[in-house]
Amino acid sequence: MNVLTERSEDALSGIKMTGQKRLVLVSGRAHPQLAIDIAAELGSDIVPTDARTFANGELYARFDESVRGCDAFVIQSHTAPINEWLMEQLIMVDALKRASAKRITVVAPFYPYARQDKKGRGREPISARLVADLFKVAGADRIMSIDLHAAQIQGFFDGPVDHLFAMPVLLEYFREQLDPATLTMVSPDIGRVRVADIWSDKLGAPLAIIHKRRDPLVPNEVSVHEIVGDVDGRVCLLVDDLIDTGRTIVKAAEALRKNGAISVVVAATHAVFSDPAVELLQSDAIDQVVVTDTLPIPESKRWDRLTILPIAPVLARAIREVFEDGSVTSMFDGAA
Ligand code: R5P
Repeated sequence: MNVLTERSEDALSGIKMTGQKRLVLVSGRAHPQLAIDIAAELGSDIVPTDARTFANGELYARFDESVRGCDAFVIQSHTAPINEWLMEQLIMVDALKRASAKRITVVAPFYPYARQDKKGRGREPISARLVADLFKVAGADRIMSIDLHAAQIQGFFDGPVDHLFAMPVLLEYFREQLDPATLTMVSPDIGRVRVADIWSDKLGAPLAIIHKRRDPLVPNEVSVHEIVGDVDGRVCLLVDDLIDTGRTIVKAAEALRKNGAISVVVAATHAVFSDPAVELLQSDAIDQVVVTDTLPIPESKRWDRLTILPIAPVLARAIREVFEDGSVTSMFDGAA
């Protein structure tokens, strides 16, 4: 039994006690199952919360138990309607601060507005930075997130950011499914090359890169220009941080097939699945899509070739490390 398990056995039940520290889990309404799964991993409970939406759309949240002096983790999944769930998390942080929580960690597995992380053109906002500022002003001491769209978003928040990775979870799945001898890792655009390269090292498979273009004036439209690398006769594993409308992945898969790929499998951390993603992803060009449940995926957005891997163990372990002043970095040391 390792030290972490020993400590956690007596420490984690209900509102938890370790010496003077109390761990409190609270959850927004966007993806309650994820919070339940995290709590189950920790052997903990979620603090009952009265969360409501008033007739005019304003939100309200009040915790039914004292949170004074606690180490609070506010779990929210930023799915649509994203602005509502962001606001709910902000007011929960505010309520915790005003109720004298000692430390407040925003758990945002899919960081909201992460794709707006720089000014691509004049007169644009940097919305990811604004979100970080909002969390700070609300009273957050730290942020925990998974596979940030751009790692530099960590620098937007004035405080610690625990940047977690879904790669170990996804890799474990694919190691059992795919043969490195026939496999080629594929980055669906230039921005993902570094991540795909790490996958390629871990799986011992060569790398191919897709040159994707977006029209800055037409949101969500994607065109593939060329493929760098050999995909002819290969099983291609396309890896991306998120699938939104599905256009990036489907265009990439079609291009790979056109260039001789015998099979295309897709791995992504965040299943945003805005319309028409579910329809597009069922394309014959794609054999399988594997995602995690950082975002809720309703039954209506599931199909037979979709596999959903649970992310709660990663989040629970990270929460435990933060609470016990352990090491989040160590979670990923050699893990993949
Ligand atoms: C792009 O930089 C991202 O990594 C994703 O490839 C992109 O945001 C996915 O969007 P969509 O599914 O709408 O093409």
